[in-house]
Amino acid sequence: MSNIIIKSPREIEIMRQAGRITAAARTLAREMVAPGVTTAQIDREVRHFIEKNGAKPTFLGYNGYPASVCLSINDEVIHGIPGHRVIHEGDIVSVDVGATWKGYVGDCAGTFVAGTATEAAKHLIAVTRQSFFEGIKFARAGNRIGDISHAVQTYVENNGCSVVRDYVGHGVGAVMHEAPEVPNFGRAGRGPALVKGMTIAVEPMVNAGTWEVRVLRDGWTVKTADGSLSAHYENTILITDGEPEILTFAEDL
Ligand code: MF3
Ligand code: CO
Repeated sequence: MSNIIIKSPREIEIMRQAGRITAAARTLAREMVAPGVTTAQIDREVRHFIEKNGAKPTFLGYNGYPASVCLSINDEVIHGIPGHRVIHEGDIVSVDVGATWKGYVGDCAGTFVAGTATEAAKHLIAVTRQSFFEGIKFARAGNRIGDISHAVQTYVENNGCSVVRDYVGHGVGAVMHEAPEVPNFGRAGRGPALVKGMTIAVEPMVNAGTWEVRVLRDGWTVKTADGSLSAHYENTILITDGEPEILTFAEDL
């Protein structure tokens, strides 16, 4: 977790393929988010999809995590474990998925509405998504991690929401969590320098209320401390001399 690994052109090509599978898995999960569906059903379909594509669900067994997807509903921030829970009308569901292809990982997330959401929920989801794009405007060789962090935080807070501090984005490659950490808060001009060939997961986790969170007794599920809604948006990106390349890009997101 200490050295930043610069990927070779060969590794980048594999990560593009991993990213494509991962993004398609997220799209599949998004299409399944609807009232009446259980989180276990989504997990099963996504796992099947990833395996059918010759890849492995990265999360399954990771530090003992028991599923292929994290599905976090309403005030759940991240790491919700799929199970018997039924999704209801108006729920917001954060989908986080990883796929490993030829030894390289794609990691992405997004928050989707079951049926019709409140204006407040739609605002939170839109702010979370846009904060990612505000952040990656600074994701290019010569800048620093803190430039991304600061841009995400500024956008989120200017729009009346808060960024989770206890969990951060990360480098990604042959393992899911590589150096550097990519916080969604902090000061511009600080942190590791961005270098062409770095691959990182930028993943704002944004609460409608305060930033504090707590972990449930299942050891995984993270919820907002104040019970407010939370949203998540993540892509794996490649640092270049110019615009970053979004390796988990999806047309519809
Ligand atoms: N995308 C997540 C992350 O970046 C999810 C990991 S969940 C786990 O950390 F179960 F695999 F740990
Ligand atoms: Co991640």
